[in-house]
Amino acid sequence: MTATIRIAPSILAADFTRLGEQIQAVEAAGADMIHVDVMDGRFVPNLTMGPLVVEAARRVTQMPLDVHLMMVEPDHLLPAFAEAGSSRISVHLEACPNLHRTLAAIRDLGCGAGLAINPHTPASLVSEVLHLLDVVLVMTVNPGFGGQRFLPETLAKIGQLRAMITASGREIDIAVDGGINVETAADVLHAGANVLVVGSAVYSAKFSVQEGMDRLRQVIANQPSA
Ligand code: DX5
Ligand code: ZN
Repeated sequence: MTATIRIAPSILAADFTRLGEQIQAVEAAGADMIHVDVMDGRFVPNLTMGPLVVEAARRVTQMPLDVHLMMVEPDHLLPAFAEAGSSRISVHLEACPNLHRTLAAIRDLGCGAGLAINPHTPASLVSEVLHLLDVVLVMTVNPGFGGQRFLPETLAKIGQLRAMITASGREIDIAVDGGINVETAADVLHAGANVLVVGSAVYSAKFSVQEGMDRLRQVIANQPSA
């Protein structure tokens, strides 16, 4: 059984002078959710947005808001992100020493719980908390910046995670994040991913949001199992 394939545009690549329009543009073009990249300047070198932006996004769309916390010690900010309107919150395995507690806290706040793993983190480490997850967010670049090159060595891990999830009988999404575009999407889908997080392949000065989304949808439509 293949899970439904969905596209989650990352507003990290959007034009922040008109964020509302940019969110509505991907919604009109058929996006399934909005991905919000929160960076703390510690877990990753870059610094981006917080609950204020989630709250603003919540006011312009009905789409689920998929919040990716690239930060150390996320626990104390989980209530603020939940109250701001997050639908799902993903924390990094590498940043959380007490994952059972953190993931349970996300669910207690009424949000879906996600676990993000960096490219060097093995799939096997996810198994102990699989029962607490709604999504595994596989980083296909080192987190911190948009527009980086996809790391093909992550493909095997996506396959291992899909096998682990299928064996568990649970419905858990596998999202891929970083360097996903019309060149790489087919490979990650084939490997077992079902949510494509896409920044620069949707928000670009070179083509419209509609064109970017259409091209990705075409790749999805060409998948043998689609
Ligand atoms: C990377 C972020 C990604 C990023 C993806 O640290 O987590 O969500 O915005 O951007 P692209 O699609 O441009 O690689
Ligand atoms: Zn992300």
